[in-house]
Order: sequence, then C-alpha cells, then structure tokens
Amino acid sequence: MVDTVAASTKTAFKAGLQDVIATSSGICFIDGERGVLSYRGFDIHDLAEQASFEEVCFLLWHGRLPTRPELGNLESELAHSRPLPEAILRLMRSLTPGNGMDALRTLASALAHSDPDVGDHTPEANYRKAVRLTAQLATLVATYGRFTKGGAPIEPDPALGHAANFLLVLTGERPRALAARALDVALILHADHELNASTFAARVAAATLTDIHSAVVAGIGTLKGPLHGGANADVMRLLLDLGGDADPQRVETEIRERLARKEKIPGFGHRVYRTEDPRATHLRRMSAELGARAGQPQWFEMSQRIEAVVTDAKGLNPNVDFYSASTYYTLGIEIDLFTPIFAVSRVAGWTAHVLEQYANNRLIRPRADYTGQPHPQPFVAIDQR
Ligand SMILES: CC(C)(COP(=O)(O)OP(=O)(O)OC[C@H]1O[C@@H](n2cnc3c(N)ncnc32)[C@H](O)[C@@H]1OP(=O)(O)O)[C@@H](O)C(=O)NCCC(=O)NCCS
Repeated sequence: MVDTVAASTKTAFKAGLQDVIATSSGICFIDGERGVLSYRGFDIHDLAEQASFEEVCFLLWHGRLPTRPELGNLESELAHSRPLPEAILRLMRSLTPGNGMDALRTLASALAHSDPDVGDHTPEANYRKAVRLTAQLATLVATYGRFTKGGAPIEPDPALGHAANFLLVLTGERPRALAARALDVALILHADHELNASTFAARVAAATLTDIHSAVVAGIGTLKGPLHGGANADVMRLLLDLGGDADPQRVETEIRERLARKEKIPGFGHRVYRTEDPRATHLRRMSAELGARAGQPQWFEMSQRIEAVVTDAKGLNPNVDFYSASTYYTLGIEIDLFTPIFAVSRVAGWTAHVLEQYANNRLIRPRADYTGQPHPQPFVAIDQR
C-alpha cells in the first residue's frame, strides 16, 4: 500500500487551492472576470463613494446597512473601546523597535488579556469583541507609529470618526477633512475580500472553536507576507529605490530588467481578478489627488509609468496594494505602517468571517496529496543506521 489517502476520498489537488470553493459565505462577492466586488450585495464603488468605514463595519457584521440610530450606537461603542489599556502601552514600550506587523501581532494577542469578555464565547460576547478589536487595532497601530518616532500617546477623540482618530493618534494633530476621508475610503476598500489568505487563516483558526483574538492573530500573521498585505510596503520601497525624480526611461528600463530576471513587481497580479481590481481604480484617483495637493506628484507619476510597463510586458493589472502605497506616503504615513493599516481595516472582515464561521461551524480539515517515500519503510534501529 503506497497511498495513505483512500482513493474514494481523493479529489483533484489544486496548487494554492486556486478556484477551490472552500466555504459558503454571505459576506463578500467577487467576479474576477468582470472586476466586480461587493460586500453583502453592495457594490464597492457605491460604498467607497457614499459610506463611512463605520457603516461598512456594521454592514459586514450585520448583513445590512445601519439606520442612523444604529450607526450612532456603533460609533459610540467604537469610541468607548478606542483607548488602549495601560498594560498594552507598557508592553508596547518594552518591544524592541522593529517591524510594525511583528508589533501588531504581539500586541493584538495581548489585547485578549484585558478584554472583559475574554472567557465568554457567546455570540453576543464575540460581537462585542469584534467591535473592540476593530476599535483597538487602529489606536494600537497609530500609537505604535507615534512611539517609533519618540512621541507620547495621544488620547483618541470620541467626536471624531475611525479614520480621523487614526490620523489624530498618529500625528497628534486633527487631520484635514480630505486626509481623513482619503483614509476612510482606503479602509472601506480593504475591509473584506472573500477568502483571501488571511481571512482563510482566520476562519481555519475559528473553525477549531478557538477564541476570536486567536483567529485575528492568525489573520495578522498571514497578512504580513509579501505575497499578501506586505506588498504595499514593498511597492513604496520600489518607488523610493527608483528615486522620486527618476526619468521615465530609467523607470522603464529598470522594470523591464526586473521582469526579465523573473522578479515579481509588487502591487501587480491577483489570484482572482483577470481585469482591473475595482479597489485600484479608487486608490489610483486618490493617489493622483493627494499627490497633487501635497506637492508630491512624482510618486503617482512614477506609479503610472510602472503600470504602463508591467501591463504592456506582462498583461498584469495593479492590485489594491499598488496605488495604496503612494496614497499613504503622500498622507505622511511611514512605510512600516502600510501593512498594519491594511490590518486596521481588514479586522472588520476577519471578525465578520469568524462570526459567520462560529454561527455554522464545521472543523476545516482538508487532506494532503501524499508525495513522500513509499509506506511502510523498514524501521532500522538507531545503531544500525
Ligand atoms: C498576487 C499573487 C501572489 C497571485 O499569485 P498567483 O495567482 O499564485 O500567480 P503566480 O504567482 O503563479 O503568477 C502567475 C504568472 O504571473 C507572473 N506574475 C504574477 N504576479 C506578478 C508580478 N507582480 N510581477 C511579475 N510577474 C508576476 C508570475 O511570475 C507567473 O508567471 P509565469 O507563469 O511565467 O511563471 C502574485 O500576482 C504576486 O506575487 N503579486 C505580487 C505581490 C502582490 O502584489 N501581492 C498582493 C496581492 S493583493
């Protein structure tokens, strides 16, 4: 007997689980051929143009848009939960300065220790924890960004929304309306994306009936990778490598050489989209607008040149990470915070998926196509090997 998976249980193995349907879900719909993305049936373009991040959180968690009183309640709950426990600030201070995602992973895990519902796994408590995690992750990332530059923590302002609070806590200044709205839209665009790798990781964790903090930490660790959320920071490093005032010919030559060496250009390609990523459309526009207003049009212009070369050479489209890089940079945000900001938004999606998983759970436990040596191998005693 060579094979350990009985023939009757075997289904075709697909590398990277490409196109495999791994769960049913009512949260997010993607049509990769037509470039359609919707949350709970609401088109991403309508949400990006008309909703706030808080409304989108409600939509993801409850499956419908909130009424004004319902939105007011959620905004109050978020405001109440934004300040960080003193123990978290102490732990943050004790961390060796380094990668923002490493800090976020550690601190998000530590949040469980001061959560009043930590031992309660009822749906009501899990919902409260989803709200709290969403509120706290934003303050956590912004405060960490401030700490790394030697700043003292800033109290969130209950009168400001989620995106504006992030910028306030990060910079110590009340943000301009345009900057707050740009970040708000970026948070909306990143909030959910069906079974992306980090959401899948969060659902696999949740399906063991572990707690919601553990599932979110699994999501954070998965998001960090350069093939996933880590790409937005790599895009900015690429733009800086090329130099802000690089001439078009140098950009073209450099990108073509990288492609010839079979290097991947961060911010391009997608497992699902075969056309433009609908999120990139909004981020491209924001990158252009913010760059022009900030007197830094070079990052958008360079991004456009790179897009033209990669599309021409490889037929690949920019994904959500490509124009978010220059958008965040012109908002004055440090590169090290780009991927943590992705998590600040995606925590809404992770928690929506975790709540959905808990509500109709079955352990997620697939099989492997065994490619090891034949079974059984003779066991040779250690002294005879
Ligand atoms: C997103 C991504 C991981 C999808 O991966 P995937 O579905 O497994 O596709 P593959 O990595 O197998 O790529 C298929 C082909 O396109 C090429 N390709 C994909 N993305 C590319 C990129 N960004 N730059 C250059 N070539 C790329 C691959 O080299 C491969 O070419 P080949 O068939 O000649 O070997 C991949 O496009 C990528 O690594 N992009 C860069 C990182 C990034 O932006 N991630 C954020 C995603 S939202």
